[in-house]
Amino acid sequence: MNTKTIHKNREVRFVLGLAGLACALAVSTMASASEPRSGYEYLQQESREMQDDDFLNPGMQSVDAGAELFNQPGNSGESCGSCHGEDGARLDPQRIAMYPVYDEKLKKPLTLQQRILVEWEERLGNKPLKYDSKEALELEVFVRHLAKGEKVNVQTSGPMEPAYKKGKEIYHTRSGQLDMACTNCHDVYPGQKIRANTLSQGQSNGFPAYRLSNGKINGLQSRFNQCYRQFRAEEMPPGNNDYVALEVYVNARGNGLPIEAPAVRY
Ligand code: HEC
Ligand code: HEC
Repeated sequence: MNTKTIHKNREVRFVLGLAGLACALAVSTMASASEPRSGYEYLQQESREMQDDDFLNPGMQSVDAGAELFNQPGNSGESCGSCHGEDGARLDPQRIAMYPVYDEKLKKPLTLQQRILVEWEERLGNKPLKYDSKEALELEVFVRHLAKGEKVNVQTSGPMEPAYKKGKEIYHTRSGQLDMACTNCHDVYPGQKIRANTLSQGQSNGFPAYRLSNGKINGLQSRFNQCYRQFRAEEMPPGNNDYVALEVYVNARGNGLPIEAPAVRY
């Protein structure tokens, strides 16, 4: 068995254990409004050390690949770097920490990745990239990494309010064969230890994040699907409106947490 399979099996046992626990205690929605805590705090020491060291953090390879894409000329002859600086220094980290933000032109909230995909297509004249594809994630993690340490700061009022409310509703809606909602695991059980792993609050400040269990960089909306799969509920294509709203809510739920991208997780 390779390490990927071992990690995978570990997570499956973990989730089955959780589902059993949920049944046994018959806990429903006693959501506690606790302080946001990063997934980092729930990691084992060895994974924290891996995340903290740029040479050991496997997610940094994607940041490097993203830097290359950022400086690769598109069909227009220009690269992202021609306008934003080779190292992205002309992008504002505080602004990156605010995504998803409301786009006045498109009249809807855009995730950071959606914004990047629009730039890729419209400013570089390139063929569209698929949401959460390898290249899209490499560009996103490069840009998000520019804001490492910056505090998540998503607006929830004004034009952002409808998406925030919709995302909150999705977060609390039960579905799937196990009839669970995000809140049932991430508001009720954080800190619950099952074997070697610990359930976290399901915060998004580390995304895009490198997962040891699948050996690659993972987008936040793909993580939503990984969770839905765990409780056997229907998955959706990343980039759809419901997942954008869910990202608005999940990011805002972590307002104040430092951006860690790329985090290392199981
Ligand atoms: C021809 C110049 C040009 C190119 C090429 C370009 N951009 Fe931009 N980009 C801009 C301008 C201008 C803005 C708008 C700034 C604003 O809205 O105030 C922008 C906005 C952005 C933003 C949002 C920043 C914010 O303040 O919300 C991001 C992120 C971004 N670009 C990333 C990229 C990436 C990644 C690429 C390559 C795929 C790229 N850009 C290519 C000019 C460019
Ligand atoms: C059956 C329990 C369960 C449910 C329900 C669940 N998750 Fe998760 N989730 C997990 C487990 C297990 C992990 C991996 C360990 C951890 O970080 O908690 C995880 C991880 C995450 C992470 C990554 C956290 C990090 O720091 O890397 C996010 C984000 C997340 N979940 C969001 C969601 C959202 C949004 C929903 C609802 C669509 C949801 N989860 C539903 C069990 C669940």
